[in-house]
Amino acid sequence: MCGIVGYIGNQQAYPILIKGLQRLEYRGYDSAGVALITDSNDMVVYKTKGKVSDLEDFVQSKDVSGTVGIAHTRWATHGEPNNVNAHPHYSQSENLALIHNGIIENYAILKEDLMKRGYTFKSNTDTEVLVQLIEYVKVSNNTDIFHAVQLALTQVIGAYAIAVLERNNPNCIVAARKSSPLVVGIGDDEFFLGSDASPIIEYTNRVIYIDDDEVVRLERGKEPRITNLNNVEKPHQIMELEMSLSELEKGGYQHFMLKEIFEQAKTVRECMRGRINIDRNTVAMSGIIDNKEKFMNARRIIIVACGTSWHAGLIGEYLIEEFARIPVEVEYASEFRYRNPVLNKDDIVIAISQSGETADTLAAIELAHNQGVFVYGICNVIGSSIARNTDSGSYTHAGPEIGVASTKAFTAQVTVLSLIALTIAKEKGTLSKELFESYVTELSSIPDKMEETLGVSSYIEKFSGIFTYAKNFIYLGRGYNYPVALEGALKLKEISYIHAEGYPAAEMKHGPIALIDSEMPVVVIAPNKGMYEKVVSNIQEIKARKGRVVAIITKGDTAIKGMADYYIEIPETCECFVPLLAALPLQLMAYYIAVVKGCNVDQPRNLAKSVTVE
Ligand code: M6R
Repeated sequence: MCGIVGYIGNQQAYPILIKGLQRLEYRGYDSAGVALITDSNDMVVYKTKGKVSDLEDFVQSKDVSGTVGIAHTRWATHGEPNNVNAHPHYSQSENLALIHNGIIENYAILKEDLMKRGYTFKSNTDTEVLVQLIEYVKVSNNTDIFHAVQLALTQVIGAYAIAVLERNNPNCIVAARKSSPLVVGIGDDEFFLGSDASPIIEYTNRVIYIDDDEVVRLERGKEPRITNLNNVEKPHQIMELEMSLSELEKGGYQHFMLKEIFEQAKTVRECMRGRINIDRNTVAMSGIIDNKEKFMNARRIIIVACGTSWHAGLIGEYLIEEFARIPVEVEYASEFRYRNPVLNKDDIVIAISQSGETADTLAAIELAHNQGVFVYGICNVIGSSIARNTDSGSYTHAGPEIGVASTKAFTAQVTVLSLIALTIAKEKGTLSKELFESYVTELSSIPDKMEETLGVSSYIEKFSGIFTYAKNFIYLGRGYNYPVALEGALKLKEISYIHAEGYPAAEMKHGPIALIDSEMPVVVIAPNKGMYEKVVSNIQEIKARKGRVVAIITKGDTAIKGMADYYIEIPETCECFVPLLAALPLQLMAYYIAVVKGCNVDQPRNLAKSVTVE
């Protein structure tokens, strides 16, 4: 995810652009840059690795005059975060400067073709390919920038929100979108651009949401022109935003947590983008491929993590053992770091962390390194300590998670672990071609199924209030859903302060059944896969003791519907991917119970987003 912002009008552009970048910094913060048409009619590009504040330091004593400009805050996808890969990118002649949010999937083919035509590249980004392509199309068709963008984008496969400045055309910004958001703000003789309305709302509440495959030209003194890629004019509707700035920062949701729950279809899509190719039925995690020998020869994988990331690690154990046939152990980082574990040179440690700053996980990494063990990181926050201190790794690309209770980071971690397990399995040949392809197909369908799952939100909101009386909850699940039970219980504890325990369903008879009475809510994750009949028996045992059952069931299941007090349906999927769907209703239940209890959902008592001390 990156943030893009633009301005053309009568005010000085730079302060507006910088403020806009600060508002969009949640979208990415590994580098930032700005392109301006200065008062002396020159085009300048200033960019640097680091945060928006680093850009501000960088431009001190530089000419930042001008009333037209574009700016970018980056979340690296192609090419490491550095000064060269930062946006804006110049075209070969430096006549064009472009910023981009998204991923150009066919950039390699386009780049090869442009190189044959004499174009040279300075960065490792897909974005530079785009700006070179637009220049090539413009020159070879002897056309204007607006038409060149239309033509060039017909050759592009992928996702983009872009904005282009042209040195020789200083009164114009051209922008376009496909699958990445783009908003135009309409002021008095001025226009704004943003990845969302947050950089715009301070100046105007009149906006146009640009649709997929649309190109927009913003010119001083003229109406915005919006067409599709075939130059057909598209009618546009100016919307009046009624939200306040603070609401916008939460995307209109009451809490960041709810926003983040609802983002999960998108974040899982983002996490898979560029890694899974459904047309070719392939999965490629570059961090694994780059260290192929290590993973092929690994005798054991040890996953270290804390909290929700540890729960994702438990699901990773099931996935890696089932798909790739490598033995996996999952350890609390806080225990691992102090217990003198036996480690071998052909072990691999995988450290999972949303923040990338958790002290115990960092210490576990250090211990593994001291014993010469290769450490692979799975982090959400780019450039975080864990990302820097591991030998290789994968980002989850869930975007900044602001709510203290982790939601979208969890499903992104499980997605990355699924992709890792599939990548190793492919290399090792531990899954049949048919099974591998069926998993790839199923995993790609998960975001759509998540959207469908989230449709149950208002039903959960209605019944959740009933449980505010409860002092205790039990969560049960088997196989892949045992860690989901643990995660559901943790969510409830964290934000509603109700005591909750997660158990493997079969363990109930070994003790927890003694707690069940008419007051005890028991949440059972009971999809129609795995040990379904055995879980049905558990539900009967709970009902026989008058417990109150909330069941997560597969759509179409009739047997459990008749037994449970409340049931939540999730779409059909394979056993291994059920956690990606079943987690969502549990997050929503915890959220709504906490809201009814009047708890501070985003900042629960005694908790911090990142535990950087012991
Ligand atoms: O940033 P990390 O993933 O390393 O954080 C680990 C835990 O502190 C974290 O998951 C915590 O349990 C969350 N509050 C759970 O919602």
